[in-house]
Amino acid sequence: MTAPARPAPVEPGPFLSGPYSPVTAEVDVTDLHVDGELPDALDGAYVRNGPNPRFAPVGSHLHPLDGVGMLHRVVIADGRARYTNRFVRTPLVEVEERAGHVIRPGLSTLWRPGPDEVGPVLAGTLRRVPDVNVVRHGGRLLALAECDRPYRIGPQLQTLGQDTFGDTLPAGICAHPKIDPRTGEMVAFCDNVAPPFLTWTVIGPDGVGTPPRPVEGVERPSMIHDMAITDRYVVLVLAPLFFDVAEATKGGSLLEWKQEAGTRIALVPRDGGPVRWCEDEAFWLWHTANAHDAKDPVDGSDIVVLDYAEWERPSPPAPGATVTPRLARATIDPAAGSMRREVLADVAVDFPRVDDRLIGRPHPVAAAVLRTGRPRSHPGWGDALAWYDTRTGNVARWEATDLALGEPAFAPDPYSSAPDRGWWLSLATRPSTGESSLVVIPAADPAAGPVATVRMPVRVPLGQHGNWLPTP
Ligand SMILES: [Fe+2]
Repeated sequence: MTAPARPAPVEPGPFLSGPYSPVTAEVDVTDLHVDGELPDALDGAYVRNGPNPRFAPVGSHLHPLDGVGMLHRVVIADGRARYTNRFVRTPLVEVEERAGHVIRPGLSTLWRPGPDEVGPVLAGTLRRVPDVNVVRHGGRLLALAECDRPYRIGPQLQTLGQDTFGDTLPAGICAHPKIDPRTGEMVAFCDNVAPPFLTWTVIGPDGVGTPPRPVEGVERPSMIHDMAITDRYVVLVLAPLFFDVAEATKGGSLLEWKQEAGTRIALVPRDGGPVRWCEDEAFWLWHTANAHDAKDPVDGSDIVVLDYAEWERPSPPAPGATVTPRLARATIDPAAGSMRREVLADVAVDFPRVDDRLIGRPHPVAAAVLRTGRPRSHPGWGDALAWYDTRTGNVARWEATDLALGEPAFAPDPYSSAPDRGWWLSLATRPSTGESSLVVIPAADPAAGPVATVRMPVRVPLGQHGNWLPTP
């Protein structure tokens, strides 16, 4: 067998240029310029993660997962804002920084550096990519990868090391765990190419997890990106995007879409008991908005409602995508093993979010990034934000025209529990100038647009997920 050739530099494509182009400087800047006025009640930090190669990649660049995580933080207090950004420094990134160039190629490249280049521990290993999400749980800030041990992040955004949740979860967790606002528990899954193919866990507010529990009834490994919870269930959507390790080792694709296999939803009882499986024709989702338990309006039976951004089949949530996601709802009948799906809003959206205080409960509003369909000069995924009102079916939108927008996150007004009291935050970049900003949009009237726009001192590349962290 011939050893794979040493990889060559990657040609910069749309995900390594324009608003996606990586930055290398790490800065701390206080007293950012604010257009408009930051609400006095905003007291905390917005932190967002995203792929940002430290050095020019070689071999391949698998958007949106490849690269090196970079955290961007905007601290807001007393009407003022400051910005800090830092790489998530895995051991490999530290080795590459000492070398002054990238060593390990992208995720979809087979070539691995030997111990002479990266040392015996890292030799032959995959690149760790904690660049998808960043959450705070149990007082810890965690940079999350797809089903891996997350990296703990310190108060100066420094990388502290990997977390195994009290040695309970050596394989780690997914990048989209859900924190139950009722119990403080963080519920997560982990998928794997080897049995057991899918496990789930509950991490207590003390940061200690339950040993991973297999989800019964999963016979093939498939890729799952996001999840949802209700008071009663962990909701896992298994679309037919299967891992095929044998094909990948021959140089083929690691993932294969099997339309005919359909999509299954697993309702895993959080208090134990058998998994309830519900099946339908194939569809794909990158992201859920939220789920909750409910009663069927006709016969009063127990149902589960899941809102999510539905794709016909997988495609990167990015420029050039040939399929368009819609905000959708699955009404799931655990007893019958069936689901009914409907499009909630006939507009192109992804990155849906709700007020995190309502995770697992009915949400009056789901916000999302929206693609207007107008000709654009930039390759960012969306150029507007949308708010779907689940009570009326109305969609409010704020069109940013020449801005490439990131996922919205909700910052609640600490002085009110009403669902429309607070602000939606989104990092935006104007591709023509490279200027980035944090827009602050009032939840009570989002179509009116930002009440404040915080100018970032440096460009913030388009990235993945973030969260508002209120000052405790
Ligand atoms: Fe995601």
